[in-house]
Amino acid sequence: MSTHSTDPVRFDGRVALVTGAARGIGAAIAVRLAELGATVAAADILPHHRWEQDALPAGGPHTRHHLDITSGDSCRRTVEEVLAVHGHLDHLVNNAGVVARGPAATTTEEDFRRVIDVNLTGTFRMSQAAYPALRAAEAASVVNIGSTNGHIAVLDTLAYCVSKAGVMHMARVLALEWAPDGIRVNAVGPTIVPTDMTRDVRADDAYMADKMAGIPLGRMAAPRDVALTVAHLLSPAAAMTTGQTVFVDGGVLIH
Ligand SMILES: NC(=O)c1ccc[n+]([C@@H]2O[C@H](COP(=O)([O-])OP(=O)(O)OC[C@H]3O[C@@H](n4cnc5c(N)ncnc54)[C@H](O)[C@@H]3O)[C@@H](O)[C@H]2O)c1
Repeated sequence: MSTHSTDPVRFDGRVALVTGAARGIGAAIAVRLAELGATVAAADILPHHRWEQDALPAGGPHTRHHLDITSGDSCRRTVEEVLAVHGHLDHLVNNAGVVARGPAATTTEEDFRRVIDVNLTGTFRMSQAAYPALRAAEAASVVNIGSTNGHIAVLDTLAYCVSKAGVMHMARVLALEWAPDGIRVNAVGPTIVPTDMTRDVRADDAYMADKMAGIPLGRMAAPRDVALTVAHLLSPAAAMTTGQTVFVDGGVLIH
């Protein structure tokens, strides 16, 4: 019987690109991957002075990149920067996202397009830009950040809901297409997480009472909860798992 000396959840010598890493869930993912030994390329549209203080440990090999996932050129340039500095790219986390709230009947086409352009088409652009590098890497993996809203219908977030359904299904299709290249693609679907994205609804007592009543474990997901599951799915500990969505939802989807 062979024994493995390497811890299957470690990322030593591996390079991970995380989009939307300036704050919130993306920052927590960047920190967790760095804790596990990864070299993290953290990318965001925000200028560096607006990044959360603890978005990445100071020093070390990690890099920050200016990225707008609504631009294919920006996605390709970011991958080029990562390859120029780090030499390879092993993992991609498609985390950058935006939300727009309001009834479907009055949502403007402009708002609808913006949410789809960032969340859904942005995930496609970034995945496509990273593909040649991921194909060249050993045991590469990708995680898309979906949402419970992509699985159940939630009022007043039509574009967001369908964009998240899209990125979770995109994980399945890419998993199938890229399996011959040895690239695994999965998704993570959190319930509500206390970040800037949910600042408005968290101030709404009626909304929160209803939301919390639907979470059997009785609390919001922390950014760290999401980051731990993302790290697991990216790592060799999940070497036989591809095309799946893991919900980090405290049981929302049980009932
Ligand atoms: N907060 C929640 O309750 C929740 C629940 C489920 C899923 N999610 C998803 O988790 C991901 C992270 O969300 P969060 O809660 O940390 O939100 P957040 O607003 O705190 O962070 C999103 C990050 O994405 C970046 N971003 C936005 N547009 C970009 C673009 N065009 N190019 C590059 N970066 C861009 C933002 O600058 C920001 O740093 C999103 O995909 C979101 O949909 C969030």
